[in-house]
Amino acid sequence: MQPLLYSDLVPWYRLVDPPADHAEEVASYQEALERGSSFRPETLLELGAGAGHNAFHLKRRFRCTLTDISEEMLTLSRELNPECEHFVGDMRTIRLGRTFDTVLVHDAVMYMTTEDDLLAAARTAFEHTRPGGAAVFAPDCVKETFSEGTDLISGEDGTRALRCIEWRWDPDPADQTYAVEYAFLLREGGQVKALHDRHLEGLFPRATWYRILESVGYRVETFERPLGEGQFDQVFLCRRA
Ligand SMILES: C[S@@+](CC[C@H](N)C(=O)[O-])C[C@H]1O[C@@H](n2cnc3c(N)ncnc32)[C@H](O)[C@@H]1O
Repeated sequence: MQPLLYSDLVPWYRLVDPPADHAEEVASYQEALERGSSFRPETLLELGAGAGHNAFHLKRRFRCTLTDISEEMLTLSRELNPECEHFVGDMRTIRLGRTFDTVLVHDAVMYMTTEDDLLAAARTAFEHTRPGGAAVFAPDCVKETFSEGTDLISGEDGTRALRCIEWRWDPDPADQTYAVEYAFLLREGGQVKALHDRHLEGLFPRATWYRILESVGYRVETFERPLGEGQFDQVFLCRRA
């Protein structure tokens, strides 16, 4: 079953995650994809593109093809990025029958909760990467960088307002998943509604990421991604020979 955030709550999604917030990290993905390609890349495929907030920035540089498992999320992306191509599909199984100069797999990869899922997504990315091209895998965290934490998300659009507590915790540190609890308060027309949405996400050691990405054929290195407020983490640049 789809999380509420990517189904019933899609009309609220831009208040949760404004496109402008993606600019800084997207610049690091663009730079890595250009550096990782052995030619000047022109095309980009994103697996799990959601509302298209990365593509909103990337489309200035690449011809973007955007895929996601949620039709509702892609509807938001079509509104924001009408000039981009869109396809509904699961990153584990989608096959478009062509290759792209570059491939981006951003936070949607967190929904790969087993090594088999992660391997399937890595195969999809590899099969769609043109030889000489590059892919970026940018998970929110790896096992070594995960820590329990809470964020407050606020958004307003003139007629509606939203507050959300995002609470990340690990119910079983021995397995390869963690939980993200979202507690939403949604205010509209003088009424306030409360909703809880739980997301189960994958948590793999960095060595597992390397093993899986290399096993499908990529040459893998890491690069720095800005997290804001002067903080950085390491995400994966994958080259296809
Ligand atoms: C946090 S949102 C992505 C937001 C995106 N980075 C953006 O710029 O808007 C996570 C997305 O992962 C998608 N997703 C979850 N599982 C997926 C799968 N197996 N294949 C493709 N997309 C998936 C969800 O539908 C959702 O749109």
